[in-house]
Amino acid sequence: MKEITYNSIFILLFLIIFGCKKENNKQDISGKMENVHTSDYGITPKGDSIKKYTLTNKNGMKIEVINFGGIITSLTAPDRNGKYEDVVLGFTKPEGYFEGNPYYFGALIGRYGNRIANAKFSLEGKTFEIDKNDGPNSLHGGKEGFHTRFWNIEVVKDAKFPTLKLSYTSADGEEGYPGKLTTTVFYTLTDDNALEISYEAETDKPTVVNLTQHSYFNLSGNFTKTITDHELQINADHFLPVNETLIPTGEQKAVKGTPFDFTVSKSIGKEINADDDQLKKGKGYDHNWILNGKGLRSIAKVYHPETGRIMEVFTDEPGVQFYSGNFLDGKFDTKTGGKNEFRTGFCLETQHFPDSPNQSSFPSTELKPGQKYQSKTIYKFSVKK
Ligand code: BGC
Repeated sequence: MKEITYNSIFILLFLIIFGCKKENNKQDISGKMENVHTSDYGITPKGDSIKKYTLTNKNGMKIEVINFGGIITSLTAPDRNGKYEDVVLGFTKPEGYFEGNPYYFGALIGRYGNRIANAKFSLEGKTFEIDKNDGPNSLHGGKEGFHTRFWNIEVVKDAKFPTLKLSYTSADGEEGYPGKLTTTVFYTLTDDNALEISYEAETDKPTVVNLTQHSYFNLSGNFTKTITDHELQINADHFLPVNETLIPTGEQKAVKGTPFDFTVSKSIGKEINADDDQLKKGKGYDHNWILNGKGLRSIAKVYHPETGRIMEVFTDEPGVQFYSGNFLDGKFDTKTGGKNEFRTGFCLETQHFPDSPNQSSFPSTELKPGQKYQSKTIYKFSVKK
């Protein structure tokens, strides 16, 4: 009898210790596998297969990224009732991204985000002609910019939060830009519902670099609704007026007393149709704001009254392009039905100023061999009860 009892205690202890160990292993392994999930996304017309990476945090927030263009195809955020919904514009079918993506939905933009006047610039006495894809100008790195390229994606092991490392090497002369540029971008989804984006680049010849992310947000979670009811605050006392082709004139204009004053939160729609020459040129807001302060700081906040969703933007860049989706033209279906109509999404693209390579009074975007380009932006989601 005694022996049976000893034996059973021994077996029981063995089972508890072994069982616990197994349970720990299961948690470690499943934790890592579940917070970044890889799946097949689609096949390009050239027959290349695209992978999708789904990042999930402890709250259940999800971000989906594809290796084509480093595009964010989906990003969920909670409303005041805790309901997570997709808040970024995108196509309903993979082909939308491969066949033009005229809006640059969700894409990584490079080598130069925003416009360069007359599609040319000079560096160290040499003139470079780059791809002219926007009237007389070059926009977002040219027709075959980084938004159309395949990025190598690695899931970063042992990172505190789900993290992707995206790498792309742009050849010397690609889209007309000098120097072989090695680019790395990290996407991290933290447990406080923030998407952190870190950019790095190095070159072997002097070049210009201005990397950004082109997600369009609609915090209502319904992509048929316009974003004019969103309340926006931008920490900027000045903005850059533009000419007819949206190139900055060089003037740094005070926002005070103009529809460009977002120093105190107001709805995007409040003055968007005002009789203002700059709003006419942009067909709404499509300008760069000169951000107050330096270093990684809070630069903008967007609040959607109906759902309670808040998005706060942090960056170490000197500028942000606030674009109110004025070129969205209803040609494609949205992910929530209907068409992607005028002003149903907005962008807050953190960056150096447009046309900096041709405007010596702007902070420089030049990168020389031996230097490291580094920049960081955070989009953080929360709610107001
Ligand atoms: C620009 C817009 C442009 C859009 C392309 C934005 O970054 O500011 O002028 O039309 O990108 O979708």
